[in-house]
Amino acid sequence: MSLVEMKDINKYYESGKNGTIHALKNVSLSISQGEFISLMGVSGSGKSTLLNIIGCCDRYDSGTYLFDGKDVKDCTDKEKALIRNKGVGFVLQNLGLIQGRTVLENVMLPLLLGDKGSRVNPEAKAKEVIEALGIGDKIDTVIEELSGGQKQRVAIARAVVNSPKLILADEPTAALDSKTAIEVMELLKKLNKELSCAILVSTHDPLIAKGCNRQLWIEDGVLVERE
Ligand SMILES: Nc1ncnc2c1ncn2[C@@H]1O[C@H](COP(=O)(O)OP(=O)(O)OP(=O)(O)O)[C@@H](O)[C@H]1O
Ligand SMILES: [Mg+2]
Repeated sequence: MSLVEMKDINKYYESGKNGTIHALKNVSLSISQGEFISLMGVSGSGKSTLLNIIGCCDRYDSGTYLFDGKDVKDCTDKEKALIRNKGVGFVLQNLGLIQGRTVLENVMLPLLLGDKGSRVNPEAKAKEVIEALGIGDKIDTVIEELSGGQKQRVAIARAVVNSPKLILADEPTAALDSKTAIEVMELLKKLNKELSCAILVSTHDPLIAKGCNRQLWIEDGVLVERE
């Protein structure tokens, strides 16, 4: 069974100045467990829009979308929140880290938002992930004192701490130099293998895209697969 099964998804934005924008046009996409996929497209082509819909952070206007076999249209708000919290791990385009808080506090957050009955010790689990991502020495450092590459690792740690089935990474290497960008991609590759979670990563960088097992391209809201 596919983790993501989309058929003919359309998304429109109503924008006062620009009228209606048709941001996704009949997008069909399946993602299976453990896949490592890149999504390329110029600025404004619809990459973030697609990732946000896959992650149940935004609504679509028509089409069908099944996440892990369940029709998202039939999900209650609570079920969608559960997908956002545990089903997917989001590495946001603007990172979305909480300033003034430490690395540990940021990475622990999804565990604290999750079900209270869980037997996972949030602090121990967050520490384990932070160590695994190579930023153990920064665990008590506040976010604004980290470099760009270190912040990106914190964002990835936060995305994987709940062991999601799918990681959505929106241009995770855009703000990094090429060496750090390669390191971050190696890290995602390692997580993909070790956790056998699927990863969908949007990028402007053809080299990054080439390192993925499957390549998608989006052009003005139309998704195509590159052989
Ligand atoms: N909240 C919004 N309201 C209105 N229009 C929007 C909104 N979000 C995105 N759009 C429009 O939808 C289209 C797709 O935007 P999107 O952010 O998905 O592009 P992108 O491929 O992620 O671009 P980038 O590479 O710059 O991040 C663009 O035309 C954009 O202007
Ligand atoms: Mg974007």
